[in-house]
Amino acid sequence: MRLQRHLYWHVLPNVPEDVQLSVDQIRHKMVAGDSLISMSARHYTIGSGVDTWEVYLLDDAAYAQLQKQIEATKKAASIPSNDIEGALRWSEHDALVVFADDGASLVIPQMGNMKPLHLDFTQVSYRQRLLRGGRVKEPVARAVLHGVKVRYPLEQVRVFDATAGLGRESMILAHAGAQVVSFERQMPIWVILADALNRAQGSRFFPFKLPKLFSPGDIRFAQVKDAIDPPDVIYYDPMFPERGGSAQVKKEMAIFQRLVGEDSDTLEFLKIAVNYAVQRVVVKRPKEAPPLQLEDIERSHFIDAGVCRFDCYVGRNPDTAVGSQRVRWESEWDDEEDYEDEEDDEYDDEY
Ligand SMILES: C[S@@+](CC[C@H](N)C(=O)[O-])C[C@H]1O[C@@H](n2cnc3c(N)ncnc32)[C@H](O)[C@@H]1O
Repeated sequence: MRLQRHLYWHVLPNVPEDVQLSVDQIRHKMVAGDSLISMSARHYTIGSGVDTWEVYLLDDAAYAQLQKQIEATKKAASIPSNDIEGALRWSEHDALVVFADDGASLVIPQMGNMKPLHLDFTQVSYRQRLLRGGRVKEPVARAVLHGVKVRYPLEQVRVFDATAGLGRESMILAHAGAQVVSFERQMPIWVILADALNRAQGSRFFPFKLPKLFSPGDIRFAQVKDAIDPPDVIYYDPMFPERGGSAQVKKEMAIFQRLVGEDSDTLEFLKIAVNYAVQRVVVKRPKEAPPLQLEDIERSHFIDAGVCRFDCYVGRNPDTAVGSQRVRWESEWDDEEDYEDEEDDEYDDEY
């Protein structure tokens, strides 16, 4: 069911210059996208492909009013529907993003005392994961990149991460040498990811090309854009119910379940993706779940990653616009020893 939802967004006074710059970039990207339905100075309507998001930029007074409502909500355990600024209503499907000194955090007041969700790629635990995985050891990198050809020597494999979420796998794929464009259709998640990527730009911790986040929405928006070449590979990791994991993962999952729920359009999406990708589509599935399958679309192979599986499908986009220029194909992954010598760890991405 499509919902009309509200995202309230507030920038605290005197945030540092880099945060303010990120805010400006996000607003610019948001309104430059194909998903923009309407806008006024403090209010945008974004049609993300599933839900429609009304994005309200709150001034200090409106934010103070909203805070009062949030407190009332916590006490009453049900959501009062009194108005903010006379027009805006708070409902259980809504979310609040606050920009403070450390960047954007996502607050879902209905979730009681749960700490706001803040994304920071420079965090040690996150960087360790990138280092531990190396360039090719992560199963997701192997599923997406192994055996895929680059068009010209020195070019990178073009990957669309169709379901960016909190951006971890986009980062892993970029670190593994792909040129990644990431897509996210739920506005609150899109905003905190956009901010985290903005802040990671130029960091000495990431000496590789960071994923580029497309404006809010799904790959269909890119499909109509002449400026973007079709991807070699589309990576697809939709929400499925009940993924277990560590406390941190569970917190993120609870927020995701509340905001996103289950992605129910997976088969429809698979069809679009297979016809759009030039070489491959990779779908992440729970260990026990059967592969996604349509009458004329079957997986070609899979990578078993322990707690989950990566199912691969052959892309069918003939890419006719550039096909004649395909003078030479070379595999980036000829050096199999890179990972055949290494023992496989159990894939620890429980999310
Ligand atoms: C399971 S999470 C992805 C997690 C991600 N792989 C990571 O590493 O953080 C799924 C996300 O994809 C988004 N999503 C699902 N289907 C989508 C689609 N067709 N287009 C854009 N975003 C989508 C959901 O809103 C959700 O945020």
